[in-house]
Amino acid sequence: MQVTNPTQRTFFNRILQGDCIEIMRQMPANSVDFILTDPPYLVNFRDRTGRTLQNDTNADWLRPAMKEACRVLNNNRLMLCFYGWPRAEKFLEAWREAGFRPVGHLVFRKSYTTKATEFLKYQHEQAYLLAKGRPAMIGGPVADVQRLLYTGNKLHPTQKAVMSLIPIIRAYSLPGDVVLDAFCGSGSTCAAALLTGRRYIGIELDNDYQSAASERMTRIRERIARRSSPSFPTECIVSTPRRA
Ligand SMILES: C[S@@+](CC[C@H](N)C(=O)[O-])C[C@H]1O[C@@H](n2cnc3c(N)ncnc32)[C@H](O)[C@@H]1O
Repeated sequence: MQVTNPTQRTFFNRILQGDCIEIMRQMPANSVDFILTDPPYLVNFRDRTGRTLQNDTNADWLRPAMKEACRVLNNNRLMLCFYGWPRAEKFLEAWREAGFRPVGHLVFRKSYTTKATEFLKYQHEQAYLLAKGRPAMIGGPVADVQRLLYTGNKLHPTQKAVMSLIPIIRAYSLPGDVVLDAFCGSGSTCAAALLTGRRYIGIELDNDYQSAASERMTRIRERIARRSSPSFPTECIVSTPRRA
């Protein structure tokens, strides 16, 4: 973790609304400690109720966004990035061009089916673990097959479960570190960061999702404040089965 200057502090513990490329360009180089992000998969996703995602049909943002992500990440640190398998080449090309080195691949197994084709029932999500430089292990290796709990997608059509992100944050960052999610949706990564004592920076293009994420962070902060006493530490909030 680095010493922070005033410019950096204006980004911390906020869900910023806007294009992550523009916002990351305003952030200092080497100013975040871990990136956990879930960008559009470039698959023209539409859920059962018709909700879609911005930037899910064109890849124009992919290379510049990954370039900025690599610039703002500290040397010798990691990014875990979900991606859509039908566009795997595009994602790998963008990560490599930006300066990331793939060091692992994770499967997040779901207990439910999100889509069925003539060949397969879709029951997993996937993410690459990518290094900038030569990171050292922080929290001990995690299994490369993880469980992805179902959230009900109330706040966002592709809402990831906070409880499924917490082990990843613990493995690749330290308490007090800055965790960035440049495609934060409803703020699941930021919630996991806050609940584990990390600082967070969330960026979201869509006004409604940005508001939902900001309100969610306020609710979590209030819950932590209500429960934070020596007899009710943050660990208890994290380990309850309730969804954040
Ligand atoms: C797959 S969703 C993330 C969902 C999130 N993991 C959650 O749990 O709610 C990707 C998000 O990226 C946002 N997005 C797309 N292009 C963006 C951009 N250029 N800058 C910031 N956010 C962007 C979309 O609006 C969408 O909410």
